[in-house]
Amino acid sequence: MTRTAVLAGIGSWLPPQLVTNEQLEGRLDTTDAWIRSRTGVHRRYIAPDDMETSDLAVGAGARALKSSGDAHVDTVIVATTTPDRPCPGTAPTVAARLGLGHAAAYDVSAVCTGFLYALASAAGLIASGVSRRALVIGAETFSRIVDPDDRTTSVIFGDGAGAVVLRGGDPDEPGALGPCVLGSDGEGRDLITVAPPGPRAAAGAEPSYFTMQGKRVFWLAVQRMGECAQDVLGQAGWDTADVDHLVSHQANQRITLRLADEIGIPQERSVTNIADVGNTAGASIPLALDQAHAKGTFKTGDRLLLTAFGGGLTWGATALTWPDIAR
Ligand code: UT7
Repeated sequence: MTRTAVLAGIGSWLPPQLVTNEQLEGRLDTTDAWIRSRTGVHRRYIAPDDMETSDLAVGAGARALKSSGDAHVDTVIVATTTPDRPCPGTAPTVAARLGLGHAAAYDVSAVCTGFLYALASAAGLIASGVSRRALVIGAETFSRIVDPDDRTTSVIFGDGAGAVVLRGGDPDEPGALGPCVLGSDGEGRDLITVAPPGPRAAAGAEPSYFTMQGKRVFWLAVQRMGECAQDVLGQAGWDTADVDHLVSHQANQRITLRLADEIGIPQERSVTNIADVGNTAGASIPLALDQAHAKGTFKTGDRLLLTAFGGGLTWGATALTWPDIAR
């Protein structure tokens, strides 16, 4: 029998080091006023040198498992742009450290859309019977690939992780994942990129860091997220008025609000946490979901529309109803 993936647990984890805009003012040619007004970011968390993406993923994953009331899953998917190593994937390490035995474990690389790609993969594994319970984590240490001296990127991004547990269930129960739309356009790969050799260049070579053509990306993000969100609404049979919460990738507060206008959803229904954590790339949607859940923003049965856009270029959207999970 085909099973629908149902949200059963959620958690997030932030590294300990808080960096405020005022601290950045001290070492970059920028101002708190510029960062707040152009991006909406007030502060972000940065992983110390001895902390890896897997450490953040384990923190978020453990909380999501605890919240689900069952410490066992048979599948672990980690969406990340910043894996611990180029090889192997980060997910097997995370599964081992969480005591998940020989669970299937792999990474998904779709930059800021990674979590939605991972969620869709897990939902497919559950629907086909390959997996019964899956842990889906978005975890990033973006501070490792951003040039700390580049004011155009280092003020925007932060580190963090968010995770959800999915189980098999019925399409009409609270927590059920609805339709999912994913897309990509590799013609735009240079718009958001880390060109070779990367930040870990061999000794003597000049390292290269993350770059983004901000203005182009801004408008493409609004357009693509708007299109795929509308597509999901159509497939779900929902009207914009049915959407209780829009949870979009926290790229920039101005993008988030513009997107709500574009889709026709009141801005106050848009969940935002970019002020407190910055743009955490593949971690941003589960982190925003968990923080909003902790604040009591969602009621059981509320309808959520999720959408993301990122490097690749990649984009995606899905819909779900909110389950009754403990806070
Ligand atoms: O997460 C993946 C997807 N990412 C996104 O969706 C991000 C999309 N893009 C953006 O969020 C915005 O384009 C940025 C936040 C990256 C930039 O905002 P903007 O309003 O597009 O600014 P801009 O790049 O057009 O720069 C405006 C001015 C420039 O100065 P001039 O040329 O007008 O003299 C920049 O040099 O602001 C300057 N600037 C800064 N000034 C102070 C750029 N960064 C800074 C800074 N502080 N940190």
